[in-house]
Amino acid sequence: MKRTIKVLTIAGLMAGSLLGSALAAETKIGFVVKQPEEPWFQDEWKFADQAGKEKGFTVVKIGAEDGEKALAAIDNLGAQGAQGFIICTPDVKLGPALAAKAAANNIKMMTVDDQLVDGTGKPLGDVPHMGISASKIGEQVGQTIADQAKARGWDLKDLGVIRVSYDQLPTAKDRVDGATNVLVKDGLPQANIYNAPQDKTDTEAALNAATTVINAHPDVKHWAAIGLNDEAVLGAVRATETVGIKPNDVIGVGIGGADSAINEFKKGQPTGFFATVIISPKRHGYETASDMFDWITKNQAPAKLTQTAGQLATRDDYAKVREGLGIQ
Ligand code: GLA
Repeated sequence: MKRTIKVLTIAGLMAGSLLGSALAAETKIGFVVKQPEEPWFQDEWKFADQAGKEKGFTVVKIGAEDGEKALAAIDNLGAQGAQGFIICTPDVKLGPALAAKAAANNIKMMTVDDQLVDGTGKPLGDVPHMGISASKIGEQVGQTIADQAKARGWDLKDLGVIRVSYDQLPTAKDRVDGATNVLVKDGLPQANIYNAPQDKTDTEAALNAATTVINAHPDVKHWAAIGLNDEAVLGAVRATETVGIKPNDVIGVGIGGADSAINEFKKGQPTGFFATVIISPKRHGYETASDMFDWITKNQAPAKLTQTAGQLATRDDYAKVREGLGIQ
């Protein structure tokens, strides 16, 4: 009798621990992004997967290009038993709707890159968020342009700045405002900043927006281009090329440092895309996924707000900078 109980107890313990590891292996975390084709988001997914492999959870990757898809993604995740998800939403104003959907599915939500806002435009401070320190990184962009213009012997009065903008997204506005603030402080006349609103945050939309600006100002001597990300600045640089402006009359400084920028740096001849501020998809992918895992498995909630830094890189040193950030 005693022996039977002992055997049963051991069997029970074994089953328990097996069950425990099966449960751990079954932790499912959604990673929903607004632009799955953009290299930045591909990299975020890659690093989230890396965290999943190391820590033993599954990452469910979903692209959601509009609000309907984002809401459906949460239902889908709930239905397949995911316990949490990270999202870069296609529209930050969806904040309350996404939060309600997450609550209805009893699933934890964290945001990455673009912070949700409520009906009045105020950030949803209760939802843990990791984004870049947008104004500071924008200032790095502005300073790089000012320094490079000086190095080329230009007078800032002769410089036109293409401000590729997407002002409905706060992080986008903060980035370009950071850049123009520094440039104006350094002597750029306010009137030399030309707004080029893009209707989508991709290279093609930026190219169209910038082309209009350049065509409207044929007497500008030198151009600089700023925007939300590398894709925006590359669109503006392509626009300068289309109208025949020489690369050394253009200073484009992007934000990102993923493949879009790297492929540009790999071109045989320098283009007007002078530099990029490299941000870390590893932090945004690996860390958010790991934070979510700890939240689910240890009930340890992530920090409410994490702002990550950026590091300037040109075609000469981007490989070293990326290596230093562990994103090779
Ligand atoms: C926004 C942009 C992306 C990228 C991230 C970084 O979501 O659309 O291209 O710059 O921010 O946080």
